[in-house]
Amino acid sequence: MDRIRIVGGKTLNGIIPISGAKNAALPLMIASLLTDRTVTLENLPRLADVSLLVRILSNHGVDYSIDGRRQGEDPDSGQTVHMTAREIVDTTAPYDLVSRMRASFWVVAPLLARCGEARVSLPGGCAIGTRPVDLLLMALERLGASIEIDAGYVVAKAPKGLRGGEIDFPKVTVGGTHVALMAAALAHGTTVIHNAAREPEVGDLADLLTKMGAKIRGAGTSTIEIDGVARLNGAKHRVLPDRIETGTYAMAAAMTGGDVFLQGAQPEHLQAALDALELAGAHVESSPEGIRVWRNGNGIRPVDVETAPFPGFPTDLQAQFMALMTRAEGASRITEKIFENRFMHVQELARFGAHIRLEGDSAIIDGVPLLKGAPVMATDLRASVSLVIAALVAEGESMIQRVYHLDRGFEALERKLSRCGADITRISVGG
Ligand code: UD1
Repeated sequence: MDRIRIVGGKTLNGIIPISGAKNAALPLMIASLLTDRTVTLENLPRLADVSLLVRILSNHGVDYSIDGRRQGEDPDSGQTVHMTAREIVDTTAPYDLVSRMRASFWVVAPLLARCGEARVSLPGGCAIGTRPVDLLLMALERLGASIEIDAGYVVAKAPKGLRGGEIDFPKVTVGGTHVALMAAALAHGTTVIHNAAREPEVGDLADLLTKMGAKIRGAGTSTIEIDGVARLNGAKHRVLPDRIETGTYAMAAAMTGGDVFLQGAQPEHLQAALDALELAGAHVESSPEGIRVWRNGNGIRPVDVETAPFPGFPTDLQAQFMALMTRAEGASRITEKIFENRFMHVQELARFGAHIRLEGDSAIIDGVPLLKGAPVMATDLRASVSLVIAALVAEGESMIQRVYHLDRGFEALERKLSRCGADITRISVGG
């Protein structure tokens, strides 16, 4: 199992190219199940979650090919892939694959819309309610599907096809909105989604579906209307830049000091996080080519944040911002409003000497002048990268275990950081 070793204390200076967004890539790839034509995706990141989804989709009959490297191309730049689901050979998504990545549950929508049936394992094997997909299933029912739970599997059926309907989400759900969009694209008649997620990744999926021939109005707002079509075509689409990766490196730069250019980043996709960074004392300058973030001399100011659906402060940047606040000159409060118990990083950050206490859905962070290197363990994707941010300024050596969590969502993390001056190395154990 790989580990990452970081010796803290270096400032970050240089250019970091931003990869294609994992959270856009996954639904875009799943949308290839909706058509028998080829969907070509450019700028697809090289990530463990992408590889796992390729396995899941190929099980349903998707052919997948990757373009080779082109002359002068950076080996770390995104890949161009072609995906063709000429025939769906299997409408079952088994437990051993779905349990490893929650987003793979979303295949339920295109399988149902195209084949009239889908049998998809509940993610993580947990009951609905504790790890809910209730809103995703509600959306499919509103489009005329019958849903049963059988031995840990969701069995969704619509033998005569889905029909348009009104879907009113009681709570903003990104996955629910993706599922509703994909299902409604091939339903008979018009669907209206109320309280839809406005995250940029929803807009990216709607863009691809529109190129495939779907009739969608209002994507990016909280009311989306879809006129179903009988079939969809192939299309070519470029995955949007990863706003969570962007925000992560912006916070790393604010933490270490120095001057970093986040190449290809789109500021409008993470304005709330950039605003919080400026309040914390970082300088942020946006241009059509990307975002420059720097901090010279001044200390880090404490800033309170509360996570919210887009355009609010993203839950996927909460752990990274908390890492930054551990060094602030004063106390800050971070409130998590999207997920319960998303504070697994707190006890690991404490191993560096951070002072954090939990109060319900809030963490109160008393900034300290010095963090000290420590052995720590990655617990999940976003939590693990917060440990990297802390380790970059911690005095001495830190060793991060279980870095497969990082590989799920951060492409070439140690190369991107070491090129900017960080002392970071991957230690491959047993291979
Ligand atoms: C997506 C992102 C994830 C991000 C999250 C919120 C991907 C692959 N993942 O996850 O990185 O943290 O959005 O921005 O894009 N909920 C229900 N019932 C449901 C579905 C969701 O109660 O059927 C709840 C969830 O428990 C959570 C909230 O709704 O409290 C938002 O979850 P949701 O937006 O659906 O998250 P994901 O789409 O799974």
